[in-house]
Amino acid sequence: MEHLQLSQTLMFALALVVVAVAPHQTLSAILNQNLPGCNSTCGNIEIPYPFGIGYSSTPDQRPCFFEPKFSLTCENSTLIWGNVEILSISLPAQQMDVLFWVSQFCNDTNDNFPWMQTFNFSISRKENKFMTVGCDSFGVLNSFSDNSTYSTGCLTRCYGNELKIDDGTCSGIGCCRMDIPPRMRDIEIRASIFSNSMPEWENCSYSFVAKQDSYNFSTSHLRGFPQTSFPLVLDWTVGHQKCKASESRDDYACRSNSYCDDTDSDIDYGYRCRCKDGYEGNPYLGCTDIDECKTGNHTCISEKNCLNSNGSHRCFCPKGQSGNGTKGVGCHQKDLVTKVVMGVGAGIFILFMGTTLLYLIYQKKKLIKLREKYFQQNGGSILLQQLSRRENSSQVTQIFTEEQLKKATNNFDESLIIGSGGYGTVFKGFLADNNRTVAIKKSKIVDESQKEQFINEIIVLSQINHRNVVKLLGCCLEREVPLLVYEFVNNGTLYDFLHTERKVNNETWKTRLRIAAESAGALSYLHSEASIPVIHRDVKTANILLDNTYTAKVSDFGASRLVPLDQTEIATMVQGTFGYLDPEYMLTSQLTEKSDVYSFGVVLVELLTGEKPHSFGKPEEKRSLANHFLSCLKEDRLFDVFQVGIVNEENKKEIVEVAILAAKCLRLNGEERPSMKEVAMELDAIRQKEKHPWISGDQNIEETQFLLHDASSSIYADGDSSSHQYTTGYDSIRDHVLIALDNGR
Ligand SMILES: *[C@@H]1O[C@H](CO)[C@@H](O)[C@H](O)[C@H]1NC(C)=O
Ligand SMILES: *[C@@H]1O[C@H](CO)[C@@H](O)[C@H](O)[C@H]1NC(C)=O
Ligand SMILES: *[C@@H]1O[C@H](CO)[C@@H](O)[C@H](O)[C@H]1NC(C)=O
Ligand SMILES: *[C@@H]1O[C@H](CO)[C@@H](O)[C@H](O)[C@H]1NC(C)=O
Ligand SMILES: *[C@@H]1O[C@H](CO)[C@@H](O)[C@H](O)[C@H]1NC(C)=O
Ligand SMILES: *[C@@H]1O[C@H](CO)[C@@H](O)[C@H](O)[C@H]1NC(C)=O
Ligand SMILES: *[C@@H]1O[C@H](CO)[C@@H](O)[C@H](O)[C@H]1NC(C)=O
Ligand SMILES: *[C@@H]1O[C@H](CO)[C@@H](O)[C@H](O)[C@H]1NC(C)=O
Ligand SMILES: *[C@@H]1O[C@H](CO)[C@@H](O)[C@H](O)[C@H]1NC(C)=O
Ligand SMILES: *[C@@H]1O[C@H](CO)[C@@H](O)[C@H](O)[C@H]1NC(C)=O
Repeated sequence: MEHLQLSQTLMFALALVVVAVAPHQTLSAILNQNLPGCNSTCGNIEIPYPFGIGYSSTPDQRPCFFEPKFSLTCENSTLIWGNVEILSISLPAQQMDVLFWVSQFCNDTNDNFPWMQTFNFSISRKENKFMTVGCDSFGVLNSFSDNSTYSTGCLTRCYGNELKIDDGTCSGIGCCRMDIPPRMRDIEIRASIFSNSMPEWENCSYSFVAKQDSYNFSTSHLRGFPQTSFPLVLDWTVGHQKCKASESRDDYACRSNSYCDDTDSDIDYGYRCRCKDGYEGNPYLGCTDIDECKTGNHTCISEKNCLNSNGSHRCFCPKGQSGNGTKGVGCHQKDLVTKVVMGVGAGIFILFMGTTLLYLIYQKKKLIKLREKYFQQNGGSILLQQLSRRENSSQVTQIFTEEQLKKATNNFDESLIIGSGGYGTVFKGFLADNNRTVAIKKSKIVDESQKEQFINEIIVLSQINHRNVVKLLGCCLEREVPLLVYEFVNNGTLYDFLHTERKVNNETWKTRLRIAAESAGALSYLHSEASIPVIHRDVKTANILLDNTYTAKVSDFGASRLVPLDQTEIATMVQGTFGYLDPEYMLTSQLTEKSDVYSFGVVLVELLTGEKPHSFGKPEEKRSLANHFLSCLKEDRLFDVFQVGIVNEENKKEIVEVAILAAKCLRLNGEERPSMKEVAMELDAIRQKEKHPWISGDQNIEETQFLLHDASSSIYADGDSSSHQYTTGYDSIRDHVLIALDNGR
């Protein structure tokens, strides 16, 4: 059993080898022209499908022909179709040559009228001629199609003469020749002699259909015809309907890669199948692709440049060569000039890109270096050192990058400016990272020598955590001009509140008093409670910000100085705002905390009077608010100077008390002014009384009168800053004040 299987396998393998070795063409011919198990030849005539002989030798024993009209028989190596012998069958032309007889007519005894059933095939109009040979002869070709008969023919007469008969050519005398009409089927040929021909002439008449050029006339044929048959060409078709009707039928004959053709007008029955372009084989069995590259029928310069595809082929050039590989164009080494140009182009491009990149990197580095330089110049490293020392502090001063702040202010958009002045410009900004609105101040250029001090200020201010001092959140040192970031206070300045809103009622006074107390508290804190005393140097209503509950926030430390203990600062330049400036400071340039007290005095007067600290439009004696206020006080005309409507019975006493405090702050001699701490305490005391008024209205008036009297005498007193008692002053000092005030203008 195993042995048998082995031998079978071996044989199969051998068969495979044989098949593989067999040449391509032969193999395809064998495979393509016939159905399997059918004889492909008869004698030496090839029989292509749809023709076939009998039934296949395969088990299904299917017919070897497509339909009965293609059924052939093979007898003694002669191929028989119907009643005729087949000479050859052409698949490409879809024609076949058959042997058909000559019709002979002599004297009624041995006449011959051959006929042929053509099974709806027509005799080829183009390939055949109808001929008649004889002297007084005519021949008729009959076609019996669809129960109707059609006849055609030719005649030739010489009446016994032979002079005009040309030898070798069928001229029409002795031999007539005629084209075949189309669609002649089921034919019969009849040769005949004219009945009144000369009796002595017993020559015969011969008619036949012959394939073109298969017969050459000769005069000798008049006496005895040499052939009894000639090849005749038939056009064959499959089916009996046109393409359109046949394509949908089950017995449609055209197989893969073929198409139906019924364009030949000579054909009225059936259709033909043809292989598509680029395919070969038998369309009735299925066409196969022509490998143009192998058969040599390609347009490429060589087989190596050819790539076969279904139905066609493609030419190509090896990599690195130009052209498309066709015979006209071919393949070429790429042009040297093109190469050079491309190379140089690429080089220039790379160089350009490289240079641009380097330049960009250089610019970026330069910017980073510049920022680094400014950072150092602005004391960044000192700040970082300081900050690292204070790591455990609850307060953290953030160091912002320039990018962060640019982003926050939309690249310092002018529409976001909320204030500007000698100190610099303030922008409103939004820090997306902290989700917080801030005020960003662009300071003036910092003096190189003030570098360390600037940083100290930042550190100290960032340490200050007082509810009435604007909070410094951080800074940015990466610019030539440092940037400071503050909390954003949204309700404007006290200056705006006083000079633009003009709301005059008791509520306003209460608010004003509270603002005064809060501001004083903040300044007091800066002077005495902060780790290093800070002198604000620019106390004014414009630097007191208000939030939405009118809580005061002292701001703008741009001019502020830190005063190390036991040291007096000598300012290189007198700073401050006209109208708030301490006259003593203007004279001596000696910076003390008392300068802030003077300026705060002006703020108090502003709160009381609602007037601006300096107004050029007024008479000379009224220009300086502080001086005007003091002279009114001196002349007992204090109530003239208060803002109209602010004084009422309830707050009269408080207002006078505040006025007296303001006057003390405005003392010419700084040492005689109360300290900020005392001012704050005094204001707090006044507020306490306001909250718990234990003095009745009547008493209040008397008290006020007393206070006023006391005030006018005590203001110019040689005040003891450590005491709250007011002693009567000396006139000599009063004169001094007046002189100083004159100088101050
Ligand atoms: C094929 O032809 C051979 C001889 O030529 C014959 O013996 C054989 O029977 C034929 N086969 C068919 C299927 O007609
Ligand atoms: C076939 O040929 C042989 C001799 O060649 C002959 O005897 C025989 O009659 C022929 N048969 C037919 C059917 O023609
Ligand atoms: C017809 O012709 C043949 C010879 O071709 C001859 O033998 C015969 O007698 C002729 N018959 C008649 C009726 O002429
Ligand atoms: C010839 O054509 C007619 C009409 O279509 C058809 O009926 C007949 O069967 C055909 N004959 C053959 C042999 O195919
Ligand atoms: C042809 O004629 C025969 C007899 O006259 C008749 O039976 C047949 O139907 C006819 N065929 C056609 C196609 O006319
Ligand atoms: C045929 O005709 C020629 C004259 O053209 C004549 O000589 C000859 O005898 C005739 N042959 C026969 C068989 O009648
Ligand atoms: C007929 O004549 C032509 C030219 O003379 C020749 O080529 C051809 O072979 C001849 N045909 C036959 C069948 O003798
Ligand atoms: C070569 O191909 C062309 C077009 O595909 C075709 O017309 C021609 O017959 C082919 N020639 C050969 C010898 O295959
Ligand atoms: C040709 O067509 C056959 C199927 O029709 C497919 O399998 C084959 O891959 C195709 N070959 C090419 C070269 O396209
Ligand atoms: C090859 O190139 C030539 C000229 O450019 C063109 O005429 C031809 O059609 C191309 N052949 C192919 C197969 O692309």
